[in-house]
Amino acid sequence: MSKWGIEEKETIEAINNIGFFGNILNIAAGDGRFNNRLLELADSVTAIDIDNSELETLEEYCPKDLLDKLCTKAVNITQKLPFQDETFDGIFCTGTLHLFDRDTIIKILQEIKRVLKTRGKIVLDFATDIKRLDKNQNQVVFEGEGSFTTDEAVSLFEEQLKEFTLNIGVATFMEDNLEGDAGYNYISGNFLVISGIAREKNQQGCIER
Ligand SMILES: C[S@@+](CC[C@H](N)C(=O)[O-])C[C@H]1O[C@@H](n2cnc3c(N)ncnc32)[C@H](O)[C@@H]1O
Repeated sequence: MSKWGIEEKETIEAINNIGFFGNILNIAAGDGRFNNRLLELADSVTAIDIDNSELETLEEYCPKDLLDKLCTKAVNITQKLPFQDETFDGIFCTGTLHLFDRDTIIKILQEIKRVLKTRGKIVLDFATDIKRLDKNQNQVVFEGEGSFTTDEAVSLFEEQLKEFTLNIGVATFMEDNLEGDAGYNYISGNFLVISGIAREKNQQGCIER
């Protein structure tokens, strides 16, 4: 199992419902949670993460018959992404955006919009109202993370993803007995499952409603 926990059923449903195809970007892919599902649906998956050791584990977990559809690359997602405009048919990102402050999240979303094709599809998740504990039951808060409530997060994504036909679901999660190198032993909270399709622009460059 991934050190980041189970594959939540709400996210699996979103992956199945959105109909991913073509070239998919898996942002902050970690050790590969959900990645093999994406590979089964896509022509190719580019899995990026700042941590090369995560990507090595992701490759180890990848079945041999899917490996030729997989590309991995060490990328810091707080910087401009190293891809041209409108490169990907779909973009997937779980377990990560909540680690950043509001301005950084907005910057990452702008880059997601830049490298996604018109009519491209997204599935993102975003943890809210987070409670994390280490093995001694001490609260763990990561420096720089936004610590959003569910309502604050819904407003943020509705505001920043106006160019998308959007669906936002809210679910709960809980993981305990996580490995030590996750940085915590227990985590619970809510999470948004955000799926959307980028609307086409008309000749005036306006978004079709
Ligand atoms: C909680 S894990 C989630 C991994 C995976 N997406 C999942 O859902 O299991 C967060 C991941 O974000 C990566 N990460 C953190 N900051 C990053 C950054 N600035 N650029 C790229 N990846 C980053 C970490 O290395 C880690 O693999």
